[in-house]
Amino acid sequence: TASSMIDPFGRAIEYLRVSVTDRCDFRCTYCMAEDMTFLPKKDLLSLEELDRLCTAFIEKGVKKLRLTGGEPLVRKNIMHLVRELSRHLKSGALDELTLTTNGSQLARFAGELADCGVKRINVSLDTLDPDKFRQITRWGHFGRVMEGLEAAERAGLKVKINAVALKGFNDAEIPDMLRWAHGRGMDLTLIETMPMGEIDADRTDQYLPLSLMRSMLEREFTLTDIPFKTGGPARYVEVGETGGRLGFITPMTHNFCESCNRVRLTCTGTLYMCLGQEDAADLRAPLRASEGNELLAQAIDEAIGRKPKGHDFIIDRRTQRPSVSRHMSVTGG
Ligand code: GTP
Ligand code: 5AD
Ligand code: SF4
Repeated sequence: TASSMIDPFGRAIEYLRVSVTDRCDFRCTYCMAEDMTFLPKKDLLSLEELDRLCTAFIEKGVKKLRLTGGEPLVRKNIMHLVRELSRHLKSGALDELTLTTNGSQLARFAGELADCGVKRINVSLDTLDPDKFRQITRWGHFGRVMEGLEAAERAGLKVKINAVALKGFNDAEIPDMLRWAHGRGMDLTLIETMPMGEIDADRTDQYLPLSLMRSMLEREFTLTDIPFKTGGPARYVEVGETGGRLGFITPMTHNFCESCNRVRLTCTGTLYMCLGQEDAADLRAPLRASEGNELLAQAIDEAIGRKPKGHDFIIDRRTQRPSVSRHMSVTGG
């Protein structure tokens, strides 16, 4: 049976987020600069190596695995990895295998994902207006994402929509997005923007505390806190008028680090113990040093042993310096 990973603050680490590529077919303005430089392809771990790493974590007690990016579905042959990892669902070692995607390739992959035992996916979507969608993603095609959502529905995948709340961009639209998502049987989760990586936009202008958004929504909707949990950081309410669930991810206004259960692996084999800290552990060297997993297991233990207490993100109007210099796409949120 799996041992468990307990960090220095007594938190059990059961959730691994794996960024399978730092590349993305969009360039959301709050996430990336327009002229991003991506990792050279030769630095990527192979899918077999990613599988070995994920398996080592599952052997150490990870129960929930989420593939992210960049955009996970643009990684070449990604379904090969998903299919391989699905063996851990069948064996019962893993409770959930899922992914966070921008939806652009879902029309093609939804059916296969469902066949591999994926039950539920999170789709990032910040607006329902095709023109604004193009603007925020810099060139994304809204219609393709809608086709992806339809394919997900046909395949029986449960969808949660993630929207980053951006002042002056989508705040006025959130009530409509809520009715739209709930009308289609999807949950909606709102996210506060975090100061990660240099972008072209001004984060101070974009930042919208969700406490404000909640009060705004309460003029129109009845929100009731519910204990519902998905394993991630969202806190949920039920919306009386729609019967659906609304989640709030509030790293800035209501820190949830004390219940953190996750670590993040990048496509080059670097493990970040916290989204909001620079400290990282290299797992590539121990992975490649031997065919057995002993060195790897040791390196993982050592890394979990230095998981920090939490992030110290601040949105600094004066310096505009991001708290963390790497972009979200390195670790997939
Ligand atoms: P569920 O399984 O549905 O609970 O998903 P999740 O919220 O764990 O995953 P998702 O990829 O939907 O994450 C949404 C966003 O939440 C991420 O992109 C990040 O912006 C944010 N987030 C997730 N985990 C953390 C965390 O540990 N710290 C911080 N600051 N933000 C996080
Ligand atoms: N702050 C908060 N969320 C972000 N995302 C990307 N960059 C940021 C940021 N700086 C979100 C995306 C997607 C998820 C992977 O992370 O919109 O939902
Ligand atoms: Fe791509 Fe997601 Fe970043 Fe948008 S938020 S650019 S979809 S990785």
